[in-house]
Amino acid sequence: MKIINDIDLYKDELIYEINNDNLVIFPTETVYGIGANALSREAVEKIFKVKTRARNNPLIVHLKDKSEIEKYAVIKSDVERKLIDNFMPGPITIILEKKDIIPDCVTASLNTVGIRVPSNEIAHHFLEIVDLPIAAPSANISSRPSGTKVSDIKLEFDNLVNFIIDGGESKIGLESTVVKVINDIPMILRPGYITKEMIEKVIGVCNVSDHVLKEVDINSHVESPGMLYKHYSPNTKCLLVYSKDINTLKKIIKDNITNKTIILGSDKLKDLDCYKYINYGNDLENISHNIFSKLRECDKYNADLIIIEGVDKVGLGLAIMNRLIRTANFNYIEK
Ligand code: TXA
Ligand code: MG
Repeated sequence: MKIINDIDLYKDELIYEINNDNLVIFPTETVYGIGANALSREAVEKIFKVKTRARNNPLIVHLKDKSEIEKYAVIKSDVERKLIDNFMPGPITIILEKKDIIPDCVTASLNTVGIRVPSNEIAHHFLEIVDLPIAAPSANISSRPSGTKVSDIKLEFDNLVNFIIDGGESKIGLESTVVKVINDIPMILRPGYITKEMIEKVIGVCNVSDHVLKEVDINSHVESPGMLYKHYSPNTKCLLVYSKDINTLKKIIKDNITNKTIILGSDKLKDLDCYKYINYGNDLENISHNIFSKLRECDKYNADLIIIEGVDKVGLGLAIMNRLIRTANFNYIEK
């Protein structure tokens, strides 16, 4: 695997890789993506294979500019257009009716496609250079924490992908907000940096899917298939805990701690007696930025439990809790 910084130096190689149905890992403002030509079935097939991703979990298509959207999807309402005008480029994915040019394997045979226009300059430049729509899920083996750091990603994909474009640590650290407009009302299927409150400011209303914080029955119909799967998890077992009251929080932890427990949380918990304490940041933006690489770090210590401090489920906190609840496989105590 070649780790490259200056993509202009490798322009011809990158174009070659994408045109020959190979995968390229690239940075975005949210997390790293593992990308392939969205118009090629063979290329898209490689993404599913390398990630060991369920075939019924659709991929997001990344475009260099929002002016390209109507080549691949239909913008059917003013609400969709307003979301595009206000939030793209940026950390949002909008689910639109797909055009036939997008192969069914990209969308898991749904008649919709997730469209994203990243704001990260390197991502933008990469999309410009290859000049194709790029299907890209997060750069991690399925069920693992998303890749936000080149060193983490290299360990997982070293012999599977030829090129990784190094853009440093992902700024946001959590994947894009996924939104679908239903009966003229935006519905958040996956929360992210673009919050319900930010969308309400522009559109007036915004719903959040019930599945965001709930376990989803594998046989049920869901708007966002990604919610069905075990996700964002280190190998060590996790317990997520939350209380607004610090004493209650500490009590829950003391009641559940083992001899080999890692506590992953803010400074509030640093004085607790435990096998290992790891700080994940002290405000929502820092926690979001750090969380996936800290979860991976936890696997290094041979612990038998990670107790993760939860956050209030508002603003960016909703996105953090959506991920952490799945990290802990719904092993969650709130008092
Ligand atoms: O920030 C991001 O979105 C990153 C970067 C690389 O862009 N990508 C990412 O992709 O997180 P992935 O594949 O890990 O997550 C895509 C999510 C899944 O939950 C999937 O089910 C949902 O988007 N999705 C994709 N297409 C959809 C569709 N047509 N309808 C409903 N949900 C869709
Ligand atoms: Mg993912």
